[in-house]
Amino acid sequence: MEREPTRNLALDLVRVTEAAALAAGRFMGRGNKEAADKAAVDAMRIVLNSMDINGIVVIGEGEKDNAPMLFNGEHVGTGKSGPELDLAIDPIDGTRPLADGRSNSIAIVAIAPRGSMFNPGPFLYMNKIAVGPEAKGTIDIERPIIDNLNAIARAKDKKIEDITCVVLDRPRHIDLIREIRSAGARIRMIPDGDITAAMMTAWPDTGVDVLFGIGGTPEGVIAACAMRAMGGEIQGKLFARQEDELRRAREMGYDFTKVLTNADLVSSEDVFVAATGITHGDFLQGVRYLSDGAETESLVMRGLTGTIRQIKATHRWDKLRRLSAIDY
Ligand code: FBP
Repeated sequence: MEREPTRNLALDLVRVTEAAALAAGRFMGRGNKEAADKAAVDAMRIVLNSMDINGIVVIGEGEKDNAPMLFNGEHVGTGKSGPELDLAIDPIDGTRPLADGRSNSIAIVAIAPRGSMFNPGPFLYMNKIAVGPEAKGTIDIERPIIDNLNAIARAKDKKIEDITCVVLDRPRHIDLIREIRSAGARIRMIPDGDITAAMMTAWPDTGVDVLFGIGGTPEGVIAACAMRAMGGEIQGKLFARQEDELRRAREMGYDFTKVLTNADLVSSEDVFVAATGITHGDFLQGVRYLSDGAETESLVMRGLTGTIRQIKATHRWDKLRRLSAIDY
């Protein structure tokens, strides 16, 4: 059946992540996470509210570290005639690296039809495994690490010792790291930013094959949206840090034993994702400030078509400052 191409909201969405990156990039290396987050959130909110959408923030970053959020349940967009959407927002994935002046911090937003995104509620941590298109369908978060590594190696026609795993550098991953080492695979340890890490498994020439380990649940949902467009796969399982979290989960109807598939994390293929580099990264350049403007690099993706665009933009202060409410 022929179908009219629907509007590509990703192209609107990239203005949101560009604005956040331009505002937050000013804080690179200045040691002030909160100010960076506030700049990104404020800029994002202004541009989101100019979009002709009827959006609800299902995932706003912030509870975990008291950041100034675009809060869960907040309505965004002009709200009149636009499509009804869920939004998952991470104004800065990698706030610490940005404040410390390190690589791989990005601004990222995903949208999907209303009701299609997993709502993590207050349960902020999730165990994850993510792979790119070649290994899609071969992973199982319930199986031992060695079995997953074997499956990925087979799917990619490699040996286990050729496989590179990305892992967040956290004490909670001591056993995971031991298992990967005893299986003989390589590890790339990252200080932060497991959305970027998940996307790297599905992006050519990053040299990364799989993401393992416990990171943010909101970040897991955003990564799931990106995987829809990139053809990769992420699976997750909510992770409890304390016993009382499990009790609370039972009361609220969350199941910590359930495997959350990519489709559980976002049930629709009709997703849009935009990401803009803030600091220099593995596949996105960071913001460069010039005397009369700035340059940004972004990815915009659409789940339905699988189209991924790389957008390099040049921004001019003289014009922007006349038009925009954002203080660049
Ligand atoms: P923020 O920069 O948005 O705070 O997140 C950074 C991050 O590294 C995520 O990419 C990851 O999912 C999460 O934090 C891990 O949480 P924690 O730092 O508490 O281990």
